[in-house]
Formats: sequence, C-alpha cells, structure tokens
Amino acid sequence: MRSLEDANVSGKRVLLRLDLDTPLYQGKVIDTFRIKSALPTIHFLLNRRAKVVICGHLGRPNGKVVKELSLKPVIQELSDLLNQRIIFASDLFSESTKTAVEELSDGQILALENLRFDAAEEANSRTFAKKLAHYGEVFVNESFATCHREASSLIAITEFLPSFAGLLLEREVGVLTELLSRPARPFVVIMGGAKIADKLPTISSLANHADKILIGGGIANTFLAATGIDVKKSLVQEDQFGNAANIFKRYKDKIILPTDYIWHEDKILDIGAETVGRFEKEIRGAKTIFWNGPVGYSEDEQFAIGSVKIAQVIADTDATTIIGGGNTIEIIAKHDLIREMSFVSTGGGAALELLAGKQLPAVKVLD
Ligand code: 3PG
Repeated sequence: MRSLEDANVSGKRVLLRLDLDTPLYQGKVIDTFRIKSALPTIHFLLNRRAKVVICGHLGRPNGKVVKELSLKPVIQELSDLLNQRIIFASDLFSESTKTAVEELSDGQILALENLRFDAAEEANSRTFAKKLAHYGEVFVNESFATCHREASSLIAITEFLPSFAGLLLEREVGVLTELLSRPARPFVVIMGGAKIADKLPTISSLANHADKILIGGGIANTFLAATGIDVKKSLVQEDQFGNAANIFKRYKDKIILPTDYIWHEDKILDIGAETVGRFEKEIRGAKTIFWNGPVGYSEDEQFAIGSVKIAQVIADTDATTIIGGGNTIEIIAKHDLIREMSFVSTGGGAALELLAGKQLPAVKVLD
C-alpha cells in the first residue's frame, strides 16, 4: 500500500477522503470517534502546509440532497476539534466552490458537502471522479470504514491523482490482517449485532482462526432458532437458518451460544446472567480478543447490561483487544473504555469483510 508517509504533500492541494459517517441526534454529532480518528492525518498534512480539501459522505441519501444528512454539523465538530476554521462548500462543483479551492492558502482547509447527494458517487463514476480530482494534486484515503464500497471518491479517483493511504487506514488494515495471521492464543471472538447475513461469512472465516466464538445479540436468535430452540417472537432471519445451522454444526466445538436470555414481550433482548458468566470465563482466559456487535438490544439501556458487562471484562484483561463496529464503539465510548482497548477499528462492514478474507476494493487500488 502506498503510504502517506512516502507522499510529497508539502504546500500541495490534497484531496482527503474521510469517513465522516457519524451518528447525529437533532442535528448534533453524538459520537466523535471517527472524526477524532482522522486528526493525526489532518495534522500530518497541516504540518506540511498542505491545502486540504476534505470530502466524505453521511448516511444514505441515495443521490438526493437530504437536509438532515448535510455534513455541515460534522465539519463544525471537526473544526472545533482542530481549533481551526474550515471553509464549508455546500455545492460540490459550483463556480464559487472551484474558486474557494483555488484560493486556498497553505495550511487552510475546505470541506465539501456530502458526496452521496450526487448519485455519481456511489456509481463509481469516472466523470465525477475527474471533477473531484481538480480539487487536489494528491489523493489521500483515510476512510477505512468505507473501503468495502466501490465509490467514485475511493476507486475511480485513484485513476486521476497519485493516491496514498492515510496513517490510520494503513494501521487498520495492518492490525486486522495481523489478527488473522498469528494471534496469541487462546483467541476468543465475540460476535453480536443484528445483521446476520453480513456476519455469517466473517464468523465462518474467523472460526478457522479463533479458539472460541461467543455469539450474542440478534444474530444469536437465528442460530438458536436454526438449532431448534423456540425463540418466540425474537428477531430472526429465516432465510439464514440453513447457513447458520451449517456453520454451527461445522464449528460446534468452538461456537458458544447463549443458554439463558432476558425476555421482553416474547422477544429475546439480552443475554442472561448464566451466559454472561460463561462468556466472562472464556474472555478472562483469552490472550487475543476480537469483539464486534452488542450482545443485546443495547440501544435501550435496560437491555445493554450484557454488553456493558462484556465491555468491562474485555477492558479488564491483559489480552490484545480489538474492537470493531459502530454500536460496539458507542458502548465502550459511553463507559470510557476506549483507552483500555489495544485497538478500536473505525470500520464496521469494512472490518468484517476484511476479516472474512475479502479484499477491500478501495484498499486494493492503493497497492
Ligand atoms: C459505515 O458507516 O460503515 C461506512 O460509512 C459505510 O457506510 P454504508 O454502509 O452506508 O456504505
């Protein structure tokens, strides 16, 4: 991978792709983890007096301008964190935006509005990329969390500008690749969350490397139902019963499913005390831990108890601890445990795809 450390960015216009896809509530950023993660690369560029043009996306506006998905509040948060003014360009390719980019002085920053307001971004359009490329002399991708997407600002752009990996992107790929190559053992994986179709390939791949896989959250319901347990009205994905049953059969000695649950209106919404105890025992004995996805419906505090306990036990170990995925980060951030972990990945889907053994298209083009 071509690293930013090898790029000559001094005094140059740098188009910087960030993952600015952060949760907002009533127009305010409620989790700054991804924004803060971009700071070292931004400082690196500013220290070299680069003119920085930031671009990124927020949510899924599907090619339309959606007021609630404007990047303005996210850029404001970034500006506050940097303690530096950022010029915000609300129109991607207007004459005033082009002029503002041309007039940037060394060490100044301009940020573009949500790229996904234009359908061309997600279509990986070359025309769109060519227009974006006019805003930089060098392209830097510091958007690991989006690297599983074939978007114009990640793939096509690299045809038009010398392209480099941001400091964190390089580290993310390195840490997650290393995790699979030689983990200190026992290597324990905890998988939760709701999207089983996205997670099954990763579980299947990780099962080849890990000693134990502890499964909780919505995805556990599908495993439980697939093995004949009555989960009543719990969230399940019936079309995944076959896949889940096969994986469970194949890795029966490694996969641990919940044995008791917290019910609410006939739905399983958290793991029970006995399961927490079983999971805790495995986690305390581990030398390497990877955790992705809450083990309960953690959006509601009364069903976040299992996930918070898991977070605390992980933080308490001396193991190498790697955390991935948005909701998981929210839990550890809320309980001030980020610094207790060895590495917290900004990537949700991207981290899972990498761990499932897939090559991320936006990383491949940086090779
Ligand atoms: C993420 O939040 O995981 C990335 O920003 C990718 O977003 P997407 O799933 O909407 O493509």
